[in-house]
Amino acid sequence: MDKKLLIAYSSRTGNTDKVAKAIYEVLSEQAEIKKLPDVSSEKYDTVVMGYWVDKGTANEESLTFIKSLAGKKVILFGTLGAGDYDGYYQKVREAVEKELPADCILLGHQLFRATSIMLNRLRKQHAENPDDLEIKKRLEDYENNKHRPDAEDLKKAQEFVLSVLRK
Ligand SMILES: Cc1cc2nc3c(=O)[nH]c(=O)nc-3n(C[C@H](O)[C@H](O)[C@H](O)COP(=O)(O)O)c2cc1C
Repeated sequence: MDKKLLIAYSSRTGNTDKVAKAIYEVLSEQAEIKKLPDVSSEKYDTVVMGYWVDKGTANEESLTFIKSLAGKKVILFGTLGAGDYDGYYQKVREAVEKELPADCILLGHQLFRATSIMLNRLRKQHAENPDDLEIKKRLEDYENNKHRPDAEDLKKAQEFVLSVLRK
């Protein structure tokens, strides 16, 4: 029988790839996994879609795919470099969700913190401005999260998708 669930994802530096593959591990009997851009959701009922955050929303190739999900049940997840300060994650989720076609059914949406190329920029900025406490604080935060997504994040991602699908 054809598998009715698709895990589609976009990844530039590998973080979203890791989370998508962890989710696939627990759904492999019912799902297929495909990396954008050459993916069609046509033959699937439900799509688990993983994007990475670029300037506060999903990266462009993910947005194009998200806009094509008319009539589907959708589970969204994203990876991003920043922490959840000042309601940032909620803003990102809203920015992405407004791109979904009106008739698709959003089952769940989760963000996962990951390392980012910003870490190198912050290290450089800190080296050039050692007395700037704001940069120092941001750098420490990014250093503390440089190994993510870690095993715990991957487990959370698996549990998130399984719990959404059980509903
Ligand atoms: C061009 C670019 C823009 C980014 N913009 C943001 C952003 O606006 N907010 C954020 O939290 N992280 C941002 N990041 C960090 C990525 O979202 C994060 O590293 C993500 O996990 C990358 O996923 P990937 O490894 O699957 O490519 C950006 C990274 C890149 C390369």
